[in-house]
Amino acid sequence: MQIIIVAAKSDNQVIGKENDLVWYLPADLRFFRSTIEGAYLATGRKSFESAQGDEVFGPHREFVIITRNKGYQSNIGKIVHSVEAAIAQAAADGAERLCILGGAGIYEQAMNLADTLVLTEVHAEFEGDTFFPAIDGAKWREVSRIRYPKDAENVYDYSFVVYEKIA
Ligand SMILES: NC(=O)c1ccc[n+]([C@@H]2O[C@H](COP(=O)([O-])OP(=O)(O)OC[C@H]3O[C@@H](n4cnc5c(N)ncnc54)[C@H](OP(=O)(O)O)[C@@H]3O)[C@@H](O)[C@H]2O)c1
Repeated sequence: MQIIIVAAKSDNQVIGKENDLVWYLPADLRFFRSTIEGAYLATGRKSFESAQGDEVFGPHREFVIITRNKGYQSNIGKIVHSVEAAIAQAAADGAERLCILGGAGIYEQAMNLADTLVLTEVHAEFEGDTFFPAIDGAKWREVSRIRYPKDAENVYDYSFVVYEKIA
């Protein structure tokens, strides 16, 4: 099973503020949707409950919600209590691709367990309260980078970047 971390971060590593995204970039939303298409998903409890959660997670999707709360309940998705348990559940359910969708603590813990990072870099600096972890160049190799200039629809330059774990 391929384990993929999927995230969008600004040049100063911001991924969110007050449990919401801090930019609107339609090209990234399209890229995100195509990246997670057909994949099994794992999300932290706060991201699941955020505004984006409504759009990303639905009854038609296979996904797990990661929470420490043993009493947590949801009508959709399965509940697990660690990143390792999320991976085990996805494997038990026969997933071929697991996309780990954050947020910050989940990314941090998943960095040692994932084999691919699929990132959108938004080329601007923002104020935020949630950050993507540092990418250790000794552990990760950048294998693809495509940069796009801002346009009428997307108000920041952005790049789609893929890293693979160095074996
Ligand atoms: N730009 C992006 O790509 C992106 C992606 C995702 C999220 N975001 C943004 O990031 C923010 C949300 O992220 P966040 O970091 O605040 O929250 P989060 O990671 O989505 O959720 C945090 C919660 O996950 C659970 N959790 C975390 N680590 C755990 C562990 N080891 N074992 C069991 N449960 C664990 C805990 O839930 P309980 O409290 O229930 O125990 C914790 O409170 C929002 O602003 C969102 O918009 C951005």
